[in-house]
Amino acid sequence: MYGKFSADGREYILTDPRTPKPWVNYLTNGRYCTFMSHTGGGYTFWKDPFVNGITRWGPRLKCAALGREVYISEMGDDGVIDYWTINWEPVYRDYDSWECRIGLGYNLIKSERKGIEGSVLYFVPPDKDLEYWLIRIKNKSNEARKLEVFTGVELSLGNIRSDLLSTEFHELFNRVYEEGGVLYAEKTFWDRLRGIHSANEEWPTKVFFASEPKASGFDCLKDAFIGDYRLASNPIAVEEGRCRNTESEGRSSILALQFSLGLEAGEEREILVGMGVLKDILIERDIRIGVAKDEFSRLKAYWDSIINEGVVVDTPDENLNLSVNIWNKYQNRINFWWYRSAASYYLFGFDTFGYRDVAQAIIGTLPIDAELAREKLKFISKFQFSDGNTCHSFSQVSMRGNRTDHTDVPLWYPLVVSWYLKETGDFDFLYDEEDFLDGGKATIYEHMKRAIDYVLSRRSDRGLVLIERGDWNDALDFVGEKGRGESVMASQMLCLVLDTWVELNEFLEFTDVASRYRKEKEALKEAINEYCWDGEWYVRAFKDDGEAIGSKQNEEGKIYLNTQSWAVLGDVAPEDRANKCMDSVEKYLETDYGTALFRPAYSRPDRSIGIITRFIRGEKENGAVFMHASTWSIIAEALLGRGNKAYEYYRKMIPMNLGSNPAFKTEPYVYPEYVAGPDSPHYGEGSHSWLTGSAAWMWRACVDYILGVRPELEGLKIDPCIPAGWTSYRIKRRFRDAVYDITVSNPEGVEHGVREIRIDGERYESNILPIYADGRVHRVEVIMGRRRDG
Ligand code: GLC
Repeated sequence: MYGKFSADGREYILTDPRTPKPWVNYLTNGRYCTFMSHTGGGYTFWKDPFVNGITRWGPRLKCAALGREVYISEMGDDGVIDYWTINWEPVYRDYDSWECRIGLGYNLIKSERKGIEGSVLYFVPPDKDLEYWLIRIKNKSNEARKLEVFTGVELSLGNIRSDLLSTEFHELFNRVYEEGGVLYAEKTFWDRLRGIHSANEEWPTKVFFASEPKASGFDCLKDAFIGDYRLASNPIAVEEGRCRNTESEGRSSILALQFSLGLEAGEEREILVGMGVLKDILIERDIRIGVAKDEFSRLKAYWDSIINEGVVVDTPDENLNLSVNIWNKYQNRINFWWYRSAASYYLFGFDTFGYRDVAQAIIGTLPIDAELAREKLKFISKFQFSDGNTCHSFSQVSMRGNRTDHTDVPLWYPLVVSWYLKETGDFDFLYDEEDFLDGGKATIYEHMKRAIDYVLSRRSDRGLVLIERGDWNDALDFVGEKGRGESVMASQMLCLVLDTWVELNEFLEFTDVASRYRKEKEALKEAINEYCWDGEWYVRAFKDDGEAIGSKQNEEGKIYLNTQSWAVLGDVAPEDRANKCMDSVEKYLETDYGTALFRPAYSRPDRSIGIITRFIRGEKENGAVFMHASTWSIIAEALLGRGNKAYEYYRKMIPMNLGSNPAFKTEPYVYPEYVAGPDSPHYGEGSHSWLTGSAAWMWRACVDYILGVRPELEGLKIDPCIPAGWTSYRIKRRFRDAVYDITVSNPEGVEHGVREIRIDGERYESNILPIYADGRVHRVEVIMGRRRDG
């Protein structure tokens, strides 16, 4: 094992840097973002990961020559300079001790070598668009020491893809210079739109690199600092103990500072380095050690408020508590800010944000910050067309989007708005007006209705939803190439959306609308049950020529997960089929790490299905344990009242548990997008960590469905579905201006069912708790068991 969680669970403390992959953290306030490995490597951007790159992105994080290393060099008695980094990478010297504390919004790396203890705290404060490096160097030896300290980053500036693909060309616009002891970087060309001739403007961002105390030397020219035929592991400046004080015009650029320190025995010194964008920042005011320390306290308070806010659980499962209370909340917020767009260890990053990804990230943030969720919902309303379809993805910079006809995408909007209404009771929101992307505007209610009507209109003669370019599964991209293929999952998803829409309209007393859409739901449910049941499970889709995929007739891709879980979520399956299809999931798809997306994986490309068949077996959408989809099997089991099974799937998928398996390799504190499935040669290996829809859904699967405390239009529903072995647990949940302090006990050892509820000592007859607008804490006692009448 490479490390462990701190006692309070708020840090993961690595004591061995040799992790199989970089273990990453996001230091970000939602605008300035530094994506950082446990040794300090990574990538920084401002507001947009694609066109506003600051440091150079590298596929292995350390490809950039300088990855935020803090080098220390010292002249030995023999006249030879010895050097190392606090980070360990990229010089790889032996150390006496090393640790990296991965915290909420910060990394703290500390190491000791030859009696010199160095530490560097990297963080991005909540309200300023910069990053601080607070460096401490302590002389723990018995003699005075003279050290040179070097800090540096490698610049990208602007469009990161152009920078990587046409490096020398793009560097011709760089101007990086020193003024009054501060380094500045600018670029006179901004490749904001695709194609090099499309823009005639400069990058509107100016980057600074400043320090307290002022540096004794600097370099902006990469070649001067690193030297010819050398790497970041042996830069000439460090090896010789002196920067060249170079500026860079039109060449590969870095920002490097040098500090000369004379340290008495036992003496400790602090150095602050700040890098950021010159927007609302005053270097004289903000690059101060005292200010940075205050900002760090503010950062801690910021994350504390998120951890203590909204929902806090205390169950018999420590890893569950750690995940739900701390790390899953943290990951949800990072996902809310960056979805899948930010460059990561696995992906270069996109210039667009996925519509369905943004929508689903909202459900993870709702219980903690409904106001943020509301703003985002309004924002994504603008990416709907007036016919009801939505963009598949969009750019926040150009405010453009692309229409691709993935049939599930429009449906996420009405679904997520209804979750928002259940959380907040803010029904006025339905009457806010928002623009359509192609002109005109309408109320949110109308936006929802048009999305549903649009998908209702995209159906086959049999009444099933067409698959067109794909559904939730982007990789089923050629099933409906000719426009005739059908998606069973999108049909089931439409069922859930129709149920939610009917429920809302009934609540609003729009009875005609409710009854019209109820009929649509019934007809759709009937069609699915007539055409899509395969004997033991529901098939996944039909190709243009009518051939089923996900059927027992298929040799590969026989049984898919999504159409079983969604048959339950969408209330499509009658009881016997619901139990049977979820039994099939257990029988054919359960693995050591959760439920696989389908099995067996495809072993060769099939043109008539698409890219899903082109990934190697068991990886990504080709039959991995695709966590995002696996979360729905937990919810389905809980809806069926099968608490043991729901918990078993959930437990296997918590990062802390996945991380106990050496094959996993990825961070044990955040969900990955997938774990390689049983058909992969890399079975058990996590991949695409951090930016994944599983974060939001895992959190809701646990809190709303296993612990069973979920918002409804009428109030807070209590519907626990837990392992029979649990005797009690507690959950505090803020809901519409009151806090419900709920204790659930399970004296009969049941998996599901509530026998009695008491609120503030008084017996209460419904399992939907009333809405209190009194700002107070209400004590709720729930006793599970078989209900006794009278
Ligand atoms: C990725 C995409 C998401 C999609 C899923 C399945 O996570 O970001 O939008 O639903 O893959 O293809």
